[in-house]
Amino acid sequence: MNKKLQVLVIDDNQDQLEVLRIMLAKRDPDLQVDVFTDPMAGLQALSQKPFDAVLLDYSLPGVNGLELLRQIKERWPHLPVIFVTGQGNEKVAVAAMRDGAHDYIIKEGDYLKFLHKTIRHAYEKAQLQKQILTSKLRLQALFDGIQDFISVQDRDFNVVMVNRKFAEWVNADPESLVGRKCYEAYFQRSEPCESCPVKRTFDRLEKDFLEMKHDNDVFHIWSYPMTGLDGNLDYAIEHLRLVTDQKRMEEQLIQNDKLVTLGILSSGIAHEIRNPLNIIEAARYYLSEVIPPEETDKHEKLMIIRKNVYRASRIINNLLEFSRRKEMDAQEVDVNTILDKTLALIEKEMRVRDIEVVREFEPGLITFFDPDGLRQISLNLILNAIQAMPEGGTLHLRTHRDESGNICLEVEDTGVGIPPENLKNLFTPFFTTKPIGEGTGLGLYIVHAIVSRNGGEIQVESEVGKGTLFRILLPKKAAAESPTSMFLDKERKEPVNP
Ligand SMILES: Nc1ncnc2c1ncn2[C@@H]1O[C@H](COP(=O)(O)OP(=O)(O)OP(=O)(O)O)[C@@H](O)[C@H]1O
Ligand SMILES: [Mg+2]
Repeated sequence: MNKKLQVLVIDDNQDQLEVLRIMLAKRDPDLQVDVFTDPMAGLQALSQKPFDAVLLDYSLPGVNGLELLRQIKERWPHLPVIFVTGQGNEKVAVAAMRDGAHDYIIKEGDYLKFLHKTIRHAYEKAQLQKQILTSKLRLQALFDGIQDFISVQDRDFNVVMVNRKFAEWVNADPESLVGRKCYEAYFQRSEPCESCPVKRTFDRLEKDFLEMKHDNDVFHIWSYPMTGLDGNLDYAIEHLRLVTDQKRMEEQLIQNDKLVTLGILSSGIAHEIRNPLNIIEAARYYLSEVIPPEETDKHEKLMIIRKNVYRASRIINNLLEFSRRKEMDAQEVDVNTILDKTLALIEKEMRVRDIEVVREFEPGLITFFDPDGLRQISLNLILNAIQAMPEGGTLHLRTHRDESGNICLEVEDTGVGIPPENLKNLFTPFFTTKPIGEGTGLGLYIVHAIVSRNGGEIQVESEVGKGTLFRILLPKKAAAESPTSMFLDKERKEPVNP
């Protein structure tokens, strides 16, 4: 049994319509026909009730059939329309097909005999198209739902299909990428990437993998063979995953690991070196006592020994402090001393880079803070400042107590400055403008974490080309809150040795 179809016919020739209705009813009684001589009334009927097919005549009163076809297609794109035109009007029929008609009929001979078949055929064709479109949309939705980058390429590296995530990464519509060479569309290259996994997949007919760096990003790329409709291996599926953050995290972990090892090593070495240094210093002292004061040149040499022994032990002490890994609790710390010790570690580096350091320290700034945390804060801020002044410049380090008693620590450089659009990202983990291997983007994140954990605040002021100022406000903490307060001489409000 045939499916019942609702057919709308628009034709201004009343007699013709009658004949048409009788013929269709006779040949296919399951076609239920509504006829209209007025095109506008026909359009209105379409919006009031669902039809399965439209038979549209070309010559209509007051409106061009082609124009009406366009209007119908605009509102009901999947509704099959059969365009009917008189003899000698084949060109119009071609135009109608181009504008979306599913079929056309030339009014000649016994065309009415086959009309019912043409209607059913157009309907089935439209149904098939709808099914294809639905499954294509479903596939695309599935494709677009994948959060990694997926692309299908043919043997000549032409993109056949690409998901939305991938297209977004290259700021394009998926449709605009189809047909372009993958290396050009995705990586702005004029030839395939070196060791392209897709190429190897075609050569060896098996899946392949590559880790690739592009600009500041790192990708993992898998490539899988894919057969075409004829069963030949004509395509490859390329699956890319952006692993930049993961890589940075791994680098940071390796870095941390290295630091721990360095810590253990340096504390061992430091202890070993301290003894000979003590012996040298003791011997120097003995000589300075026995050499008569008038032998000034000898005393000068002894002073050189003393200065260098002192320098060597300062380096060792700094190393020991920085390499200490145990978790430190908050305690009374002198902010200026911590800053000085941090500076001492990198002073040489700054001299080489032509950076002048200006210290403006208010004396006696004792606060209750985790000293390791404070060291990390100052080291990260100073390192950033140094890196911002590749051509040299001035580094201002300031400390003072503000009106409310909070300690204020400022690190200011005369470097490249930070563009306004980057300011909001500064404390986001892994945000860096430095190339891979140079910056992990964790420095300021750590600074922020330590400061906020201790109830402090960070402020940034920066101007591109002029420089940057980081201000850390460390909250005033009452000595009574501190677990070490029992070691304080309350009168003097200064730490004393227990
Ligand atoms: N003093 C500064 N001058 C100019 N830009 C800065 C300054 N401090 C930070 N930045 C910008 O902020 C970004 C993030 O800094 P952050 O210290 O978190 O990471 P990084 O320095 O890139 O890497 P890492 O500190 O892990 O080695 C930097 O890449 C840089 O663009
Ligand atoms: Mg940094």
